[in-house]
Amino acid sequence: MRATTSVLLLCSTLSPLSIAYAIDGHNSQNPLVNSELPEWRTSYGSKPASPPPYRDSLLSLHKALIDIPSTLGGGSEDKAAEYLVEYLKERGYAAQLELVPPRSDTSPETKRFNVLAWPGAGSISDPAHTRKPRVLVTSHLDVVPPYIPYGIDASDFSEVDSNTIISGRGSVDAKASVATQITAVENLIAAGEVRAEDLMLLYVIGEETTGDGMKHFSASLQKQNPTPGFEAAIFGEPTENKLACGHKGITVGWIYAKGKAGHSGYPSQGKSATGVLTRALAKIMDADLGSSERYGNSTFNIGKLTGGVAANVIAKEAAAMISVRIAAGEFETGFEIVKERIEAILKETDEDALTLDLPYGYGPVKCDCDIDGFETLVANYGTDVANLEGRHQSYLYGPGTILVAHGDNEALTVRDLEEAVEGLKKIIKHTLSQ
Ligand SMILES: *[C@@H]1O[C@H](CO)[C@@H](O)[C@H](O)[C@H]1NC(C)=O
Repeated sequence: MRATTSVLLLCSTLSPLSIAYAIDGHNSQNPLVNSELPEWRTSYGSKPASPPPYRDSLLSLHKALIDIPSTLGGGSEDKAAEYLVEYLKERGYAAQLELVPPRSDTSPETKRFNVLAWPGAGSISDPAHTRKPRVLVTSHLDVVPPYIPYGIDASDFSEVDSNTIISGRGSVDAKASVATQITAVENLIAAGEVRAEDLMLLYVIGEETTGDGMKHFSASLQKQNPTPGFEAAIFGEPTENKLACGHKGITVGWIYAKGKAGHSGYPSQGKSATGVLTRALAKIMDADLGSSERYGNSTFNIGKLTGGVAANVIAKEAAAMISVRIAAGEFETGFEIVKERIEAILKETDEDALTLDLPYGYGPVKCDCDIDGFETLVANYGTDVANLEGRHQSYLYGPGTILVAHGDNEALTVRDLEEAVEGLKKIIKHTLSQ
């Protein structure tokens, strides 16, 4: 799930972005609600009779991915992609790096790659043009800073059980999704439950900032003739192993206030930019910025305030960096609804002094959540779902909770990972049985 980005970046690329915040509800790690518990578990909360056969390979892949820091500009985004390509090739995939163009905030020498992979196509020289996978399974390799090393609450793997906690940057967001998706795909193919050629894997970069990795992949598909289309795409983000019915949209920008400086003892001689700005912000905080049954209320955040110079000086300038999590309208219309409401408040407060700069935004993003046996939720964070063009169904699902995803306490349990593998197997089979 996407973190923060600078407004400068936003202005220059007109890209969607979001700030991690919270999923509705709470952070309990619930099991799948259906009665089909994996056979290796006796019942929820009790010690499993025996670990699933893939535990070691799942945990090893998860660890290897976390061990490679992959924050934007950290200098090793390429290492995570290169590691994964080699890993997949060794397992009989055709796998390749897709170079993502440099951007204004990355050095041109820093190579940034997506990973594209086709299971069981190891010997096919150009699977991108010879295969028509029906379902895309995807997540992201980049993580938010700062790097936090891998930690596991056990002295060696033999001590690990389903309650064992694993921590580190990316342990949830989203290297848990990468490792569990690959494990689920491997297991389904090995068990003959799906055909390898029906699936494609995609691990992008840039999700935590501008979504440029997914946008680049999407644009490269649109250039092909005929344009390949997927029937479904499964996006891996922390949803507590619940199926997301969608997520709120977002807009980020600034409100600027201009005033007239003067001695604070004589307010009538000047005009306070900080005063007029805080008055407007208070109104926006209390305003209804639109709601919907599915996504709840739009929420407003004042992320940063600047303005004024000293206690005894009337402030000439002030500014607020704001974001709105948009619950109103549709993907195409939600942004305009919110923008108009904020503009109206600024106009009513002080039209001359206040300026709104909201360069970009989008309304709620719908996902499909119509599979039996899953709890559902609505997420308040941004994802790459809307960055993949096409008419496919979109599913959003993955282990771990967003409430720790960008924190220094990012962690999940082995149970979360193993339940995600079972959940993903069900979702993939569902998409292929349509
Ligand atoms: C949404 O906002 C309304 C007031 O505008 C409030 O009554 C309601 O409790 C809010 N809903 C949620 C889910 O916060």
